[in-house]
Amino acid sequence: MIVVSSGESEPLAKSIAKQLKITYSALNLTAFPDGELYLKFNVPVKGKKVIIVKSFQPHPDMSLFDIVFIAETARQLGAKKVILVAPYLGYMRQDKQFHPGECVSSRVMAKLLNNSVDKLITIDPHLHRYRSLKEIFTIPAIKLTANSVFADYIKKNFSNELIIGPDWESYQWAREIAKTLHVEATVLKKERFSSRQVKVRMVQPVIVRGKNVIIVDDIVSTGHTAIEAMKQARKLGAKSVSVLAVHGLFVEKALEKMKQAGIATVLSTNCIPGKTAKIDVSALLVGELRKEK
Ligand code: R5P
Repeated sequence: MIVVSSGESEPLAKSIAKQLKITYSALNLTAFPDGELYLKFNVPVKGKKVIIVKSFQPHPDMSLFDIVFIAETARQLGAKKVILVAPYLGYMRQDKQFHPGECVSSRVMAKLLNNSVDKLITIDPHLHRYRSLKEIFTIPAIKLTANSVFADYIKKNFSNELIIGPDWESYQWAREIAKTLHVEATVLKKERFSSRQVKVRMVQPVIVRGKNVIIVDDIVSTGHTAIEAMKQARKLGAKSVSVLAVHGLFVEKALEKMKQAGIATVLSTNCIPGKTAKIDVSALLVGELRKEK
């Protein structure tokens, strides 16, 4: 097996290769003067299982395009199997046609990957209207979860906590983490009016007063969901409010806005690198990849 990557996912790729005691090789992935992609592998991959480590960030469209080129090239170079480790799998939120004429992007993304890679491994993909990755992937698609690493982190760093999922989808994570920690969890009801406008409200009465509230979500993008959830928790008397996100996208100065709004701590996993990415998911990925050895 050999691990390849480029750009922002390189530190995670290197760590995975080190733990698996296999070669890591950086790809030359640049652009020609006219903007077309230039790609070169720097080690032979003939007969090897090639593990591409690449999250769909910071540019989801370019990342997808890069992955397709890397995978197709690995095949052309004689790779035995191409495995994509995309800790953050983008395009999953566009999972239905909300308005006539819209692209259901998740299906297009999945079709491209189905054609180019032999297996996908990802962490907490945004499964909302799809119940399973099988609904869009024909290749083996493994879904891992950061629940255990979140629970460990909370156990070591918080006390008297209440876990809140800011919308129905996030309850799957909030509930599991709370169960491991033997604490309470609740879910808010979210209404989304646009990409930047949401409203949340408490629907299951729980004791919030005096609690260290931890909002758990798969994705923090603009931060509006987290900020609205924080306001609810504050109104109900929370002692502190923190946010733990699996995938910290933090677009449009989300981090600054969240801090200004009064969120005490914002943390995320290294599925996407960044200054909040303090929670390491490499062991989860390594555990899964060992099955390929
Ligand atoms: C959506 O359903 C996700 O689980 C997140 O709640 C959402 O992506 C957060 O987006 P934003 O940070 O822009 O509110």
